[in-house]
Amino acid sequence: MKEVLWYGGHEVFLNDIEKTEGIYVYAKGGKRYVDLESGVWCLPLGHCHPTVVEAIKKQSDKCMHTGYCYASSETADACGALLKTVGFDGGQATLLTSGSEAVELGVQMIRHLTAKKYMLTMSDSFLGSFGSAAELSDDEWHFFDWGECGSSPKCETGCDTCPLFEKIPFNEIGGFVFEPGSSAGLVRFPPKLLIKNISERVHELNGYVQVNEVTTGVGRTGKMYGYMHYDIKPDIVSIGKGIGNGYPVSAVVLNSTTADIFAKEGFKVSQSHQNDPLGAAVVCAVLGEFEKCFFADQAKEKGDYFIKELSSIDSKYIKEVRGRGLMISITFQEMSDDEVKELHYKLFEAGFITVKRPKLPVLRLDPPIVISKEVLHSFTIKLQKLLPSN
Ligand SMILES: Cc1ncc(COP(=O)(O)O)c(C=O)c1O
Repeated sequence: MKEVLWYGGHEVFLNDIEKTEGIYVYAKGGKRYVDLESGVWCLPLGHCHPTVVEAIKKQSDKCMHTGYCYASSETADACGALLKTVGFDGGQATLLTSGSEAVELGVQMIRHLTAKKYMLTMSDSFLGSFGSAAELSDDEWHFFDWGECGSSPKCETGCDTCPLFEKIPFNEIGGFVFEPGSSAGLVRFPPKLLIKNISERVHELNGYVQVNEVTTGVGRTGKMYGYMHYDIKPDIVSIGKGIGNGYPVSAVVLNSTTADIFAKEGFKVSQSHQNDPLGAAVVCAVLGEFEKCFFADQAKEKGDYFIKELSSIDSKYIKEVRGRGLMISITFQEMSDDEVKELHYKLFEAGFITVKRPKLPVLRLDPPIVISKEVLHSFTIKLQKLLPSN
């Protein structure tokens, strides 16, 4: 391997990638790996999808970047297509480059529009790598630990008499940032009724509901966006990762009421690459493929199949397989962290890229939605072989 001249603090498994294609990463010399991580969960259509590559080539020749006051038709098309995916008639969207920015901009807007002290989020949320959404300071955020929610029969009737729910300082909450499936930890999905109740209470008190769809969006959970599994009406949708299928573009989409208030307030967004035509062309290409091939439905079907297969592995070391669509985690038991790390490495050597969650006995799997059931099956067989015997 060549000397590693970049930093990031992560263990490097490959630094001689020659090419990527579809679900595969090829190292120099031809060894092939199935990318069950989709890069950093960014590739619903797989690596170097021809429609996306073609859109980049065509748009690069024509116009890559403009100033904020000089829009291209591609940008209008991308924003229109995004608004259609969330059903926000009369809304507006802005394109940025990363998921962190898309979440942070939504948070900044809410802070600007309300004078309330706190933003609310779940205690296991991951909201980004930069800004206040990354810092998550106790002075600005209220964290709700929903660990017990849904486990008592009382939860079926609502949250109104629940002491945990009543502890949320709703009067001081400007906005609720909801990640519809925790990406950072164990791939957990908060109960539907809880999220409905929180969102309604926040709305009743003139707060905003923002959904963080950076990981759960663009088909990953078996619906176009993760919030669509819930009975809520978000005001702001932050989208990243999959919307660029490997190209760095993200989006903040506002419903019409929020867009109108925002326009009246005169709040400005000014970033070098906002609404760049190149990113916009990529968004159009990705959404075009989704419309044509129903990838969200495919994620549901393949995810159900994969979760069922993984759950059927007869091993005392598998504690739980959890997932929604193709956002899946396997939690191990009776194995030390080092043993799970070793399993992760052996899978890699066997040609499967997975994610080992730091300090957790968990492997995460977020394959490209274009993956076949045959390949998912071959992973299940390999995992079964590599686990210690019962
Ligand atoms: C749920 C969630 N939100 C936000 C982010 C930040 O996105 P980005 O790394 O594109 O800035 C991530 C990244 O992993 C994420 O998983």
